[in-house]
Amino acid sequence: MSERTMARQVLLFVCLLSLNSVLGQVSYSIPEEMQKGSFVGNIAQDLGLDLKRLKSGKARIYTGDSTEYIELNKERGVLLIKERIDREALCGQTTPCALHFQITLENPMEFYSVTVEIVDINDNSPSFKRTEMQFKISESAVAGAKFVLERAVDSDVGVNGLQSYSLNPTDNFSLKIQNQADGNKIVEMILQKALDREKQEQLSLILTALDGGDPRLSGTAQIYITVLDANDNAPVFTQEVYKATTIENAIKGTIVATVSASDADKGSNGEIIYSITSTHDTMPEMFEINMSTGEVKVAGNIDFEKARHYQIHVQATDDGGLTDSCKIALDVIDINDNTPLINIMSKLNIISEDAKEETIVIQDQNDNAPQVLDSIPPPPPPPPPPPPPPPPPPPPPPPPPPPPPPPLQTGWLLLVVWKWWLVAAEWGLSRNQSSGC
Ligand SMILES: *[C@@H]1O[C@H](CO)[C@@H](O)[C@H](O)[C@H]1NC(C)=O
Ligand SMILES: *[C@@H]1O[C@H](CO)[C@@H](O)[C@H](O)[C@H]1NC(C)=O
Ligand SMILES: *[C@@H]1O[C@H](CO)[C@@H](O)[C@H](O)[C@H]1NC(C)=O
Repeated sequence: MSERTMARQVLLFVCLLSLNSVLGQVSYSIPEEMQKGSFVGNIAQDLGLDLKRLKSGKARIYTGDSTEYIELNKERGVLLIKERIDREALCGQTTPCALHFQITLENPMEFYSVTVEIVDINDNSPSFKRTEMQFKISESAVAGAKFVLERAVDSDVGVNGLQSYSLNPTDNFSLKIQNQADGNKIVEMILQKALDREKQEQLSLILTALDGGDPRLSGTAQIYITVLDANDNAPVFTQEVYKATTIENAIKGTIVATVSASDADKGSNGEIIYSITSTHDTMPEMFEINMSTGEVKVAGNIDFEKARHYQIHVQATDDGGLTDSCKIALDVIDINDNTPLINIMSKLNIISEDAKEETIVIQDQNDNAPQVLDSIPPPPPPPPPPPPPPPPPPPPPPPPPPPPPPPLQTGWLLLVVWKWWLVAAEWGLSRNQSSGC
């Protein structure tokens, strides 16, 4: 016969006996966690037994096979705490929580039923299994978005159990508690006001769980939120109009301007690509832009005579397709505008057929009529710049670009005298001069 079967038989026997001989019942209510030896109840008095009977009847407690938390003090006729009672360990979330046992006496045999209710005390705080919760929330998340939070547990029961939650700060999130049929609660964090990564990339909130004891106990968990970037910012140029100048005939590759835009977004959402959208000129390939640096370079021939001003429209585009545009106002500086070294004394539109071989014909840019210089001798020694025209064949090249003279046979004459000639005259070299003519 196994020990267990025997125990069962004994229990049955006791039960059968109890049916016949239970003489009284008494119940007590004590808080959990009382010290060993603490007073539970005056059992002799409550059952109407005197101390002699307790002794003669060898009164004892019968608990079946469960732990004896309570002991009987026969000398005083009282029940005392034998083992510290933890209500949570004994009953968990079950209420009410009670100990049932018998007091037995012999000669004659008597049974008394005793119930000791164990009352919960607020000895447990609400707590979170995970004290840190991490969320990654896009800044494009709209108000009303829900995020389920970890629940807290409190092993106490009733008012001492978990009662409420609170969330701090509440700037952007609110808390929603949903009671479920099974008595559990769903704790949700609801986005109230959209997040802005550009303002704050990390948020931390504290979720507090409170019980209803006195004093109230609480437990907390940290909520860490990383705000993910959305492409909610367009690039912005540092200037709407960039002013720049360049000399004409600037060589290809010359940087005329550098534009710059910034984008508050992160990663590829903030990466900018520059492009020239259009030029009002008919020469769109006049300039090129480095799409990553924004450097605008000369790519064609800039000719002051063709355009003195360029407007270059530049666009900045981020990876999400948001754009901004700016304009470069580029002025071309004429590099040929040396003060003319020619004094026009008179003009004739005829060059005589028999013009001397060394006659110089020049054309002023401001004036389409070709001008003819009478054959001019080489410059005098001391004075200024112009190099002496080489004596031999074709029309010698004086400073300004002399266009090739048209056929001379129609002939027209313009008499122009070099400035140095006058200077030379001042120097008293007119004799030298005239001999040259
Ligand atoms: C919270 O919402 C406010 C109002 O919309 C906003 O200005 C603030 O940037 C938000 N906080 C964070 C961290 O994004
Ligand atoms: C743009 O500039 C960067 C940095 O100077 C350079 O590495 C890159 O080659 C340039 N791209 C072009 C197309 O010139
Ligand atoms: C005129 O002056 C130049 C330079 O001094 C000299 O070489 C040349 O011989 C002179 N001509 C005459 C005709 O005197």
